[in-house]
Amino acid sequence: MSETITVGLGDRAYDIHVGGGMLARAGELLKPFARGPVPVVTDSHLAELHLPRLLDVLRKSGIEASAIVMPPGEVSKSFAGLERLSGALLDLEIDRNGLIIALGGGVMGDLTGFAAGVLKRGVAFAQIPTTLLAQVDSSVGGKTAINAPQGKNLIGLFHQPRIVIADTALLSTLPRRELLAGYAEVVKYGALGDADFFEWLEVNGARALAGEDSAIVKAVAHSCRMKADIVARDERETGDRALLNLGHTFGHALEAACGYSDRLIHGEGVAIGMALAFQLSVKLGLCPGQDAERFVRHLKAVGLPASISDVPGARPGAVELIRHMAHDKKVTDGKLTFILLRGLGRAFVTRDVPLDAVRDVLST
Ligand SMILES: NC(=O)c1ccc[n+]([C@@H]2O[C@H](COP(=O)([O-])OP(=O)(O)OC[C@H]3O[C@@H](n4cnc5c(N)ncnc54)[C@H](O)[C@@H]3O)[C@@H](O)[C@H]2O)c1
Repeated sequence: MSETITVGLGDRAYDIHVGGGMLARAGELLKPFARGPVPVVTDSHLAELHLPRLLDVLRKSGIEASAIVMPPGEVSKSFAGLERLSGALLDLEIDRNGLIIALGGGVMGDLTGFAAGVLKRGVAFAQIPTTLLAQVDSSVGGKTAINAPQGKNLIGLFHQPRIVIADTALLSTLPRRELLAGYAEVVKYGALGDADFFEWLEVNGARALAGEDSAIVKAVAHSCRMKADIVARDERETGDRALLNLGHTFGHALEAACGYSDRLIHGEGVAIGMALAFQLSVKLGLCPGQDAERFVRHLKAVGLPASISDVPGARPGAVELIRHMAHDKKVTDGKLTFILLRGLGRAFVTRDVPLDAVRDVLST
């Protein structure tokens, strides 16, 4: 089973090809964009697992592919990582009409997209996302970045890929914890704008997580379609795109309080953050309590954390979390921006939230 979704951005429009086994078609799909040497940027985990097959498929299509292997993890999304990658790309003598391929999770996608965006003032790139998070979120929409010592994703630009190839079969090698973390972003789409999709996930989410072809392809494709629609309406996040940050203000604060360590990975922070956004919405009288309970029930059913007490180790305190939120880049004119809910599938952006209510929710 496969699906193609178009991100409608005029002359920068591109297709996302989702399907089990889609990697086999990478040569044919990338050939129209490939000129000269085509580097595949990946990390050392993927270099072992899926790179050899990709290189083989590309070469069989006559693409002159070679690999640049980076260390896995956020350490590569840094000035040092960018310097190393840019150097390797320049050594390959990529010209401005060339193509760079990112094979990996959000880290490889963000780093490669950013390097492509600044290399020779902009070279085309393609995304082959290999984590669930990258397939449903980071590979779509053109946000690219590296981290600064002052915070995550602070040095970046919008640079849309030319094509995204999401092979859901690649997820079979992903550790369960990473798979679940990506699933938090899938649930997010249901929570923010599509109650029917949320209901579908309640019934079929476990099948998708087990890698059943039709279920995982539908979950990924539907998520991409929702993100593509939002990005096409608001590429630069001046309005609706902020809805995609549901759970992220709380989630980032929790990640920061855990020192961006293994204690809490991004998607887990987002899952707890979304549950907190529901609780805050209920507390402010905006959202029916049953919707919040139903949401938390689904997180728990699939094995995602759903409250601050699920974070292992010492519980991060409300004061500390609010301090982290104030440092988050989603602060405008000194006011915190929250994505709240009027119910399942009905998120909205607001800056009108009393701090006392936030403190209460973080303390209970
Ligand atoms: N650009 C955006 O719009 C956007 C959106 C959300 C998140 N992000 C960024 O994405 C990053 C997180 O991405 P991530 O969660 O994909 O993490 P990641 O890229 O670090 O991948 C997680 C781990 O899984 C491994 N891995 C990847 N695919 C695998 C596979 N198929 N089998 C086995 N192992 C595999 C990786 O080597 C890595 O160790 C963060 O830096 C975040 O800021 C960007």
